[in-house]
Amino acid sequence: MSDDPDPPVDPHTQRATVRDGYDGMAAAYDREREASDAPFVEPFLEGLSPGDRVLDAGCGQGTPVLNRVPDGVSVVGVDLSASMLDLARDRTDAPLVRGDLTRLPVASDGVDAVTALHSVIHVPIAEHPTVFREFARALRPGGRLYLTAATDGEGWAGANDDWLGGGETMAWSFPGLDETRTQLREAGFRVTDERVLDDAVAEDDGGAWTHLFARLREN
Ligand SMILES: C[S@@+](CC[C@H](N)C(=O)[O-])C[C@H]1O[C@@H](n2cnc3c(N)ncnc32)[C@H](O)[C@@H]1O
Repeated sequence: MSDDPDPPVDPHTQRATVRDGYDGMAAAYDREREASDAPFVEPFLEGLSPGDRVLDAGCGQGTPVLNRVPDGVSVVGVDLSASMLDLARDRTDAPLVRGDLTRLPVASDGVDAVTALHSVIHVPIAEHPTVFREFARALRPGGRLYLTAATDGEGWAGANDDWLGGGETMAWSFPGLDETRTQLREAGFRVTDERVLDDAVAEDDGGAWTHLFARLREN
């Protein structure tokens, strides 16, 4: 993910660091992301039916989910960064809300699917269980979740003071894969598939992410 990461950012400042970082480097991230593949997004979205509702949690610049949602499926994007949402507005007519993954601005049982690509990994690590409970609250029973997580048992927390050469500090914190699986199960999810994929953005770092697919239990 990063060459020489700085020491971990204090959890109390992590949210502000992430928000300000993406506000300052939205265009730089967008360029990198647009040039990258997202091979699991379309198959996931093709599993939806007309009338279904999707929440893209940490939608960022509106790719690779908002710009691929099929006709007849409604979507809402939520993100912390106003600059990222400004970019997303050029790619979708969907409602876009500035908000936080720990307090989603959607009704309970309000959506059939949640996507969260490379977003939960920025949330302070102690708040990940809260995010997963929020996903479970927002989803209808049996609803589907697609998110990215660590590839190994270690996880990572740290910051990079010039991520992607954008001149902005960026922070991440996420547990190892087993812990994420446990947290998902405790929030009511059953993992249905896992795929490992090279990092789509910081390709040169040789990193990879697990793409996790899950369903909210029916009861
Ligand atoms: C790496 S970008 C991913 C954007 C897009 N999902 C993608 O796959 O390219 C991470 C996004 O998550 C957002 N984000 C990070 N922490 C968040 C939080 N606590 N609440 C809402 N959005 C958050 C950031 O603002 C940023 O737009």
